[in-house]
Amino acid sequence: MCPPDYFGIEYEINPWMQGNIGQAHHATAIKQWQALYKILKKHDKVELIPAQPKLPDMCFAANAGLVSGNTFIPARFKFKERQGEEAHFIKWFQEKNYTIKELPKNIYFEGEGDALFQSDESLLWVGYGMRTDIASHDLLKKILNVEVVSLHLTNPHYYHLDTCFIPLPGKRAVYYADAFDEASLKKLRDYFPEKSRLELTPADASLFACNAIVCDDLFICNNLSQTLELKLREWGFYAERIPMSEFMLAGGAAKCLVLKLSQENNI
Ligand code: ARG
Repeated sequence: MCPPDYFGIEYEINPWMQGNIGQAHHATAIKQWQALYKILKKHDKVELIPAQPKLPDMCFAANAGLVSGNTFIPARFKFKERQGEEAHFIKWFQEKNYTIKELPKNIYFEGEGDALFQSDESLLWVGYGMRTDIASHDLLKKILNVEVVSLHLTNPHYYHLDTCFIPLPGKRAVYYADAFDEASLKKLRDYFPEKSRLELTPADASLFACNAIVCDDLFICNNLSQTLELKLREWGFYAERIPMSEFMLAGGAAKCLVLKLSQENNI
């Protein structure tokens, strides 16, 4: 995770940010981030990377890249506003002796924001169409030697895969159908039979209900309806609400603030 020391809305690169320049309340953002950090720390080890001035979105560590074992594939950000983050994340992983596998310069890839492992790591779901280029998908497949399923994101409000989809242990998932094109939705519905999928209402989607972190039996997210909470209960998860209002002004919530270093414990 990366503390939101320099977090703020200083530009508009997704629809959630529109009209919000200067609107995030810094002290509240810090409190919200700390609440998330505290709960994760109770359940697992959390590493931190220092925040950097002039990089107000760096706290969205999920976008830093993708980690698998000892390999780190750094992001190639689409917007110049975030490209300055790349070098800081690469340096952090170099210092921890990860093998760094960089993608070619002209191919965008926004890390775990757009690439999510099915929990046993047998399969990688990767979004494209908004931030990440589909050309990155084959490269990810080659580098990581995993099956990659490409999902076409078509709704600008759900511009990263982790804003509208969360794969869960036991071959289950929660997602927002309206974020995908028909062909991608079919891939999801074929893979997750009806009893293994929960499709969000627009209201739950806009709460960023599936921008969640699962650790142990907790499903940690900004907020969710009681209906969804009860359905998750049937699957063995306890919803834990951590308000993320300030980060949502930037188009991100709980999951966006975390990059998984290991798929164990689902963190
Ligand atoms: N303002 C950031 C951006 O538009 C938010 C990133 C949210 N991160 C995520 N993993 N969905 O890039």
